[in-house]
Amino acid sequence: MSLNIKPANRLNTVSEYYFSKKLREIDEMNKAGKNVISLGIGKPDLPPSENTIKALNEESLKPDVHGYQSYIGIPELRKGFADWYQKWFGVELNPANEIQPLFGSKEGILHISLAFLNPGDGVLVPNPGYPTYMSVSRLAEANVISYYLDENNGWQPDFEALEKLDLSNVKLMWVNYPNMPTGAPATKELFDKLVAFGKKHSIVICNDNPYSFILNENRLSLLAAEGAKDICIELNSMSKSHNMSGWRMGLVASNPQFIEWILRVKSNIDSGMFRPMMVAAAEALKNTEEWHREKNIEVYQKRRVIAEKIMQQMGCTFDPKQVGMFLWGKIPDQYKDAGELADKVLYNAHVFVTPGFIFGDKGNRYVRLSLCATEKMLEESLERICKVLSTQ
Ligand SMILES: Cc1ncc(COP(=O)(O)O)c(C=O)c1O
Repeated sequence: MSLNIKPANRLNTVSEYYFSKKLREIDEMNKAGKNVISLGIGKPDLPPSENTIKALNEESLKPDVHGYQSYIGIPELRKGFADWYQKWFGVELNPANEIQPLFGSKEGILHISLAFLNPGDGVLVPNPGYPTYMSVSRLAEANVISYYLDENNGWQPDFEALEKLDLSNVKLMWVNYPNMPTGAPATKELFDKLVAFGKKHSIVICNDNPYSFILNENRLSLLAAEGAKDICIELNSMSKSHNMSGWRMGLVASNPQFIEWILRVKSNIDSGMFRPMMVAAAEALKNTEEWHREKNIEVYQKRRVIAEKIMQQMGCTFDPKQVGMFLWGKIPDQYKDAGELADKVLYNAHVFVTPGFIFGDKGNRYVRLSLCATEKMLEESLERICKVLSTQ
């Protein structure tokens, strides 16, 4: 019997995530004794606050907390997110209907896309940008329109260029400030411009905001801009800010109508989060300024100093004012593209750095270093790179 089963056509629009392929190769190198240090993926390695773990342990010992939970999350968590937004971003959100907890912000990209985009609708996606905006838009069979971010424009959208596009069919625009991979900060002026642009063209603006706590003094939310809630959505995450990436804790916030549409998608896909994790996350949201400084920011600060030396050693230039959990640098002219430099460093120094092309072709001449490696690993990387590369 011959079976003729093919995957859905939409699978032809996406390929295996670059990191999943590259990590397999690195695994093979490690099996062959190469001891590769990865400065590639942004995988936070620090622990959550003690209160968070304690709350998880205590709550999970209870006999009656192991069943399905409500699709909208427990009230303590929703209130926790609302208080957190008020405290850190000065944004008022109604915990009853303007917040939806998520299994990390990444899944929200799918829910939002399915809630807003019909097949063929236009969606504006940044280049360079987090690859998931592009791949999920394609899976949703939307018409992806890339907009370019450029170093000379502070990696902000070029509104003049956007106005020249045919925007009549565009429903959604992805933005991500503080920006990954470029480290460009959010500014109030940018957020005001985005709200005006969204309202002028009836385009929903979605800001993905997981990096505002990392090496960034000026924490901003798009939803703080005047009138933003009418047309904007914000994704946020506890992955980086609270050292909880494996917990999969995030949220989407917007006006009640948008949240209701998103929930209509989400409630048909999963069946709620584990109650002890929600209780513990609500506890984590109370982490003090001191905790954030000592257990997160100061650690990244020290790592960043070494990362800058690595960039310099590779002959790359970078903006020292960058924020976030990565360092983004421009490669020297001698390399054909970032892939050539990344491969040279991987195969000769056994250090993995991310070539910028995975974020779109505008990243071709850049590499990204992750700060999710200990100081010791970063020092060792620097030493290895010094041995095999000269800055000449
Ligand atoms: C820009 C951006 N958005 C979203 C995410 C996903 O975060 P989460 O762990 O909340 O799903 C990441 C993770 O690396 C990211 O870099």
